[in-house]
Amino acid sequence: MPGFEWLDDKETQALVEVMNRGILFRYDMPPGRGKYVEEFEKTFASYTGSRFALAVTSGSAALKVALAALGVGPGDEVITQGFTFVATWEAIFDCGAKPVFCEVDQTLCMDPESMRSKITPRTRCIIPVHMMGAQASIAQIKAIADERGIPVLEDTAQAVGCTLNGRHVGTSGAFGTYSFDAVKTLTTGEGGMLVTDDEGLFQNASEYHDHGHDHKPVGRGNEGRRFIGFNFRMMELQGALGLVQLAKMPKMVETYRHHKNALKEALARVPGLTFREVPDAAGDSATFLTWFMPDVEAAGRMAAILAEHNAGAIPWGKNTWHNFARWEHLHAGATLHKGGWPFERLEGYSSYSPEDLPATRDLLARCLSWQIMLNWDEARLQQMTEAVNHVVAAF
Ligand SMILES: Cc1ncc(COP(=O)(O)O)c(C=O)c1O
Repeated sequence: MPGFEWLDDKETQALVEVMNRGILFRYDMPPGRGKYVEEFEKTFASYTGSRFALAVTSGSAALKVALAALGVGPGDEVITQGFTFVATWEAIFDCGAKPVFCEVDQTLCMDPESMRSKITPRTRCIIPVHMMGAQASIAQIKAIADERGIPVLEDTAQAVGCTLNGRHVGTSGAFGTYSFDAVKTLTTGEGGMLVTDDEGLFQNASEYHDHGHDHKPVGRGNEGRRFIGFNFRMMELQGALGLVQLAKMPKMVETYRHHKNALKEALARVPGLTFREVPDAAGDSATFLTWFMPDVEAAGRMAAILAEHNAGAIPWGKNTWHNFARWEHLHAGATLHKGGWPFERLEGYSSYSPEDLPATRDLLARCLSWQIMLNWDEARLQQMTEAVNHVVAAF
């Protein structure tokens, strides 16, 4: 998912333009002098088909701001999945709430039935994560959440450009959050966005991300505040980069899809291999190609052959960033705070154990992925296909 591969003169020119204007702060005075972040927000809202978009400093910040805007705090539980980046549940802890984890299914996104089984009277939000560029089963998840009036926050950090039945993922729930960090398809170095169709929630988020300032046109320094907030503001330089990268999105997604289709055809010949389930293949942003082997031994053997032939795949069972079973600091309740915050507040926090999510652990243990690179050419695709031929011969 790396947009950094296509950084070129257009991004350089955009940064030079910002420097020549001499305005780096989006709320520069008098109002209207900052323009790139606001334009990026408007263009991103229109790209995703959302009413409102708010740019922030990172995908992690977007999650934190969205949860704060929803009023999530101590005493609340938030359900998310056991295959995600740590940021998803760090944001929940950062609000003082308790992350509750559910299983993923063959989509490698939230298993709706497992999620249903984790709902309690304290559940204040549900965060499905659109992992590796493809869709979670949002209709099923929303139906369960809507029955109980629980808002859904879609963590779309890894799936900008992905659609489900023609609609951008991230736009079905109360909020969708995106990441533009260094390795994402659309990159601003660091950066993030949240989208919503709800004006009240947007207003909460907009004020919260800027110390609670209400942004009334009375001049910076004279604004009022309805509540406390913090600083998650995006810079003009990032806004300008985002606009250039966003214009490249359609071509990037088309390129990912071309590469993914070519490699999928090659992999389909491996005996016993099954592909990750993608609810809407036509809308897949195609940044990853992911498959399951019948067992851990076969996955290990295939990974070794691919690595030997310069086509190494990610073995998710060993991954320490995204796999619940490998988050040792979570299981230990490790924190810098001497009093044990936030764990000391959570009833039964010690129940976070590597054994908690057996279905997720077993799926990931036999799961491999290639991250699709934009700059692969036909020769590279051919060389990877030949690596697959070695696997086919060995199985
Ligand atoms: C699923 C998920 N959520 C949130 C984030 C956090 O985004 P950022 O790195 O911009 O803070 C990431 C980043 O990789 C992610 O993969």
